[in-house]
Order: sequence, then structure tokens, then C-alpha cells
Amino acid sequence: SSSTIYHATATAPVNIAVIKYWGKTSTKLNTPTNSSLSVTLSQDDLRTITTASCSAAFKSDGLWLNGDTHDVSGARSQACFAELRALRKAKEDNDPSLPPLSTYKLHLISENNFPTAAGLASSAAGFAAFVRAIADLYELNESPTELSRIARQGSGSACRSLFGGFVAWEKGIRDDGNDSVAIQIAPESHWSTIRAAILVISDAKKGVSSTSGMQATVATSTLFPNRASIVVPARMEAMKKAIIERDFETFAELTMADSNSFHAVCLDTVPPIFYMNDASRAAVRAVEEINRCAGKKVAAYTFDAGPNAVIYYDEENQDIVLGPLKKATANTPGWPDKYSHINTTLPEGF
Ligand code: PMV
Repeated sequence: SSSTIYHATATAPVNIAVIKYWGKTSTKLNTPTNSSLSVTLSQDDLRTITTASCSAAFKSDGLWLNGDTHDVSGARSQACFAELRALRKAKEDNDPSLPPLSTYKLHLISENNFPTAAGLASSAAGFAAFVRAIADLYELNESPTELSRIARQGSGSACRSLFGGFVAWEKGIRDDGNDSVAIQIAPESHWSTIRAAILVISDAKKGVSSTSGMQATVATSTLFPNRASIVVPARMEAMKKAIIERDFETFAELTMADSNSFHAVCLDTVPPIFYMNDASRAAVRAVEEINRCAGKKVAAYTFDAGPNAVIYYDEENQDIVLGPLKKATANTPGWPDKYSHINTTLPEGF
């Protein structure tokens, strides 16, 4: 009947880049100036769960995140709605017995199992779950890579959260952006001993949004062209190899180098953009010291568009990484009362 409500629920985890996306070729298409590569966290850690529903009775499209309404009239959300409806419409045209869901308004109910304001990559999980839930509602058969093309238009980094494990976002060469998509380099099972500890240094909203920061960097940084066209393409290849070979030392070296390169082009932006703070730098020094003591790289730090640290390590080194990390950061201003650690395998009481 006209009041039937169709629905589907999907989850998408947060991903944390080890080779950073920073810079857009087209703000309209959300295409990047360089490819990037990330690790998707486990579904048990940080994730968004979204229920998409549609009905002839709904009056308008809407999104509720953790109970609050969110605007979906922006170009990013609208692009995702339009792409998904077009795919559903094509299906309905092929099979007139299908209910005309493409003509119905959509309601999305989303929930993050982590504080949305924690400065963690919530938009990546958010848009990935948004696209996955509607695709499931519409019973689309498109592959995760095809759906990543749509999620990319919501938030660039979201395209990588359509997959678990180790994921590359290939920048693509087409003007229409249609080959700017995510592909899985290796599933989580390929290297399941990798862990991420997240040090929440500040839960404040980031000072400069990623979109305006990227545009300023592309427009003004003299270091940026070298990063985008020379440094990152070489690193992408080296990082894929390190992941395939489960070579943690190379993985760690490249991860830290790329985080530092990203924050260097931010500092080289006019006016300069600062995402890391004193507590972030204390985490860098602690990781450097842990690696020096171990005589090899057992931990790797990385920072996104905010001060919070993500520290990758192999579970076999958990004690030598997390123990000293806790000690080294205990007296840092702003720590430890304001920080928390999100990790499935943290020892009791850490
Ligand atoms: O997807 P956006 O627009 O939120 O940009 C994310 C940019 C970084 O998190 C800093 C890097 C990345 O590749 O995730």
C-alpha cells in the first residue's frame, strides 16, 4: 500500500589513512590531487550504523544523526541521493514489477558508536554507511568499488570505508571523476595482527575544515606540487608492497613520513594551518623513543586534520608500545585526563 515503509540497515567503520588525501582537483566532483591509502578499523571499534527507509508517505528527505536532524540539502548529500536514485530507476525501468522506490523520499537514521565531536574521521564512516544503506534498500548489485564512486562525492575519505582491510583510493585520470574510486589492496585477514591505538587529545571541533584547508594548501603551498605529483605516487607503490609483504618497518616508516609531509604542507599554506599541538608532538616523541629503544620500528604515528594521534603497531609488540606510550604521555599537559584509547585489545586499566 502507499503507506508501506521499506528499510535496510548497514554499518561502515572509520578508516585512518596512512597515505593522506589532501587536495582536490575538482571541488564539485570531490576528486583528489593524489591517491591515498588507509586501514579500515574493525566494525567493533568506531563505526556508523545507518537505517535507510523510504515510503510514498514521506514528505521530504531527512537525516537524523544520534537523534539530531542534519541538513541534507547540501550538494554533497544531494549528489549521493541523485546517483543512487538513478541506479534504482534503471533497475525499475528494467523490471516494472518493482515498487517505484526511486520516486520516494528517503529517511536516514544514523548512529555513531563514538563521540561525533571527538575529532575522529566521522564523515568517512558516515557517508559510507549512508551510501551502503540506500544501496541495500534499493537492492542494487553494484560492487563496493562502484558504490565508492558515489560515497566519494559525499566525503572523499568515505570512499575508502566501503571496504575493510587495506584500501587504496586511486585518484583516476578521467575528467568526469568516474574512475576516482576505492579498491581493496588486501583484506583484514591478510594482516590481522595490526592494531590502532587512538589517543583522543582533544574532542574540540577542528579549526579549519578539510575542504577549506585543502583548497588553501593547493592554492598557496609551494611544497604541495612536489608532494602531490612526486612524493605520494612513489609512496603509494611502496606502501602497497609493504602491506602485501606484511613488512611493518616499511609500513611504519612510510606512515610517519606521510603524516609529517601532510602536516608540512599545512604549515606551508598561507596563512599556515596547524592541526597538531604540543600533546600531538609529545606523542611523536614518545613513538620515536619507543622505536629507538626497540632497535626497530614497532610503532607508527599518524595525524589527520586535528591533534589526535593514531598509533599503529603489531599486536606482538603491544606491551613495548602501549606501556611506554602511557608513561611518556602521562605528564603531558592536556593528558591523560582528557584522552582515551580506543582499541579492541587494550590491556585492562590502560
Ligand atoms: O574526506 P575529508 O574531506 O574529511 O578529508 C579527509 C582528509 C584527511 O583525513 C586529513 C586525510 C585522509 O586521507 O583521510
